[in-house]
Amino acid sequence: MMDALRYDFDYTWPWTLGHLLVAIVFVLLTALMWRAGWPRWRAVVTGVLAVWALAGACIVHGPMRFNRPMDLPTDRFLASGAGRVLDAGAGSGRSALMVLLARPQSTVTALDLFLEGYGIGDNTPERLRSNARIAGVEGRLEVKSGDIRDMPFEDGSFDAVVSVAAIDHLNAEGVRKSLAETRRVLRPGGELLLMVVNPDWYTRFAFPLFASHGYFGGRGAPERWRAAVDEAGFEIVEIGTAPASLCVLATRPAE
Ligand SMILES: C[S@@+](CC[C@H](N)C(=O)[O-])C[C@H]1O[C@@H](n2cnc3c(N)ncnc32)[C@H](O)[C@@H]1O
Repeated sequence: MMDALRYDFDYTWPWTLGHLLVAIVFVLLTALMWRAGWPRWRAVVTGVLAVWALAGACIVHGPMRFNRPMDLPTDRFLASGAGRVLDAGAGSGRSALMVLLARPQSTVTALDLFLEGYGIGDNTPERLRSNARIAGVEGRLEVKSGDIRDMPFEDGSFDAVVSVAAIDHLNAEGVRKSLAETRRVLRPGGELLLMVVNPDWYTRFAFPLFASHGYFGGRGAPERWRAAVDEAGFEIVEIGTAPASLCVLATRPAE
């Protein structure tokens, strides 16, 4: 949990502090209503909302890891521990650090357009590098600016690709293009670990208004992602979940 204070992935305050602020407001309201002798049911309602907001804050900073490197959801990813890995849509570094910390013989190329509007305030290569420095892994990180739908790499350049909470922000055509590009830049036999926002109970509880998350979210999301990865020419090895994430491990078949 101390990691949340070491790193700064710069997810903006509504995501990281929103629940806490709501909790403070409702705790104060509850106390005021109680003291002023308002009908008890009103204080009970605001009290319940305060508890919800506190629990939401715990989920955001606990299992959802908003300000910590992500946890590798499967030991089967890059089991050799070594290889050249691409992080497609790396942002401020939670996913690149997930690989660099869990697989100490790997190198990561972080690819991103570093766009605004994805929840990261200062989404820049400098912020990503700074988080890698804090983790002590900056020597194994390369940062490149580019589009995951049209990747600036030769065919077969990588042993593995990860993508966390990035491809699922694209429309259906963008998802198709980025998965096709992922397959192209992977060597035959290379691995894809795709993590997308999953409308599981963590997501629904903490962010009830955002739980459906785009074309590939909502009901039937696992089947839609399985079909998209399959149609892009991958062999699916494993589909699992992590808190708030659907995780698909697949390989580019050896030719
Ligand atoms: C929600 S952030 C996730 C970042 C990181 N993977 C994480 O888990 O914290 C989504 C990232 O995808 C990037 N992105 C969105 N569309 C992109 C595209 N077409 N090409 C490259 N990056 C893109 C955004 O700039 C943003 O940094």
